[in-house]
Amino acid sequence: MKYSKVDAAKIHELVHSFYGRIRNDQELGPIFNDVIMDNWDRHLNTMVTFWTSVMLSSGLYKGTPMVKHVALKNVTPAHFELWLGHFRVTTADLFEPDVAAEFVIRAERIAESFQLGMFHYENQFKVANVPL
Ligand code: HEM
Repeated sequence: MKYSKVDAAKIHELVHSFYGRIRNDQELGPIFNDVIMDNWDRHLNTMVTFWTSVMLSSGLYKGTPMVKHVALKNVTPAHFELWLGHFRVTTADLFEPDVAAEFVIRAERIAESFQLGMFHYENQFKVANVPL
């Protein structure tokens, strides 16, 4: 039976299941492990807090994720597609399709904004007509 509602316990399950897949991914696993090393518990807690803020407006997440992702120099747009693929599969495994879609649409938007910051920094400012 798939979940039709989102709560903190289900977000916990999603985050743990999703990063289980990420850690097993031959491409993404090493990228995460290089930075997170033996702090996976802390990362998973951060991500549960993040997703409760995004999905339940808990307001508990206080981080600066753009800065953390801009610092990842070996990450490419293809990695984001892989990441989103795992996220789509994990959310579809756990949640009814309409609820899974609510997670995925947010993940896609955030992934888009990280990629603007990581790969198109200059263009972003050109579009906004801000002198560099
Ligand atoms: C290829 C795609 C991605 C890679 C390789 C990646 C990698 C990472 C890594 C290594 C960290 C730990 C950073 C640190 O502790 O210094 C991190 C943190 C984080 N990631 Fe990602 N990420 C990706 C996509 C995403 C997406 C799409 C989202 C949101 C939908 C996301 C949300 C976050 C958040 C909220 C943190 C915690 C930042 C903090 O410490 O406050 N990531 N990511």
